Amino acid sequence: MNKFTTVKDVANLKELVNEALHLKQNPYQYKTLGKNKTLGLLFLNPSLRTRMSTQKAAASLGMHVMVMNLDKEGWALEMQDGAVMNGSTVEHIKEAAAVMGQYCDIIGIRSFPKLQNREEDYSEDLLQKFISYCKVPVVSLESATRHPLQSLADLLTITENAPTGKRPKVVLTWAPHVKAIPQCVANSFAEWMGQADVDLVITHPEGYELADEFTQHAQVTTNQQEALAGADFVYVKNWSSYTDYGKVLTDGAGWMLTNEHLAATNNAKVMHCLPVRRNVELSDEILDGPNALVLAQANNRTYAAQAVLKRMLEGLEK
Ligand code: CP
Repeated sequence: MNKFTTVKDVANLKELVNEALHLKQNPYQYKTLGKNKTLGLLFLNPSLRTRMSTQKAAASLGMHVMVMNLDKEGWALEMQDGAVMNGSTVEHIKEAAAVMGQYCDIIGIRSFPKLQNREEDYSEDLLQKFISYCKVPVVSLESATRHPLQSLADLLTITENAPTGKRPKVVLTWAPHVKAIPQCVANSFAEWMGQADVDLVITHPEGYELADEFTQHAQVTTNQQEALAGADFVYVKNWSSYTDYGKVLTDGAGWMLTNEHLAATNNAKVMHCLPVRRNVELSDEILDGPNALVLAQANNRTYAAQAVLKRMLEGLEK
């Protein structure tokens, strides 16, 4: 594996899930695989889980890790080819990525969308340019349109908690938030569930339709109560509008998930990628109750990252 940016980069999803679950039971089995190899983690946005779980995963494989907050500690990056750099940008992505590729055997990068220009965000310009200029395997730590390490951890969590002898019904429900949030977690979750052995229903208010490329295999409805009926898993997430790009269209009264909403489900387990706005997206009673899987998801972030890094390290050896 020489890049991990979408489920499309995974040749055999079942094998990757099984590998991650095996590493969870045997985290130090490959503790010398990453000896003398360096992982660079580059952040243009804040992170708790992605940063710490990926560092832990790399350490368990024997890798050395360098972390850089590129937005605060690096030079201001120029992205445009042919730019006359007489303004605020100091270093072109061509040099910056190539230099970091010399220092690192594998690079992870996090860069959120700006939510101002849909075409620009969905072109994944920074991620794609980084991949082409750094010349080493690249792991997305969340990009403008996707969050694949989160989605793999979510799939591990669903696999571990799925009801026996039944294809699980998984509902992705929009939730309120106080500000405009990217679509990437929702896009990515929908994309990964499309490759998994589940029935996916997506529910959101009018105007919050996700891009077709992520939802083709899902049933989509604006009736949340109808969507939740019989659900085994409910994934709660806010996202801003894709059609009226980056806008918050409603306060979403009634969409925050509470125990009352869960009554229609099959005693559904409740998921969220975290960080979560308590009593805005999800009620205290759910987060502190027996149906919450949010900490299990966060724990699985380590083994998702470890499985991906292991595949990349094995690729370096060839
Ligand atoms: N879920 C997630 O990616 O968390 P962080 O933003 O804290 O990394």
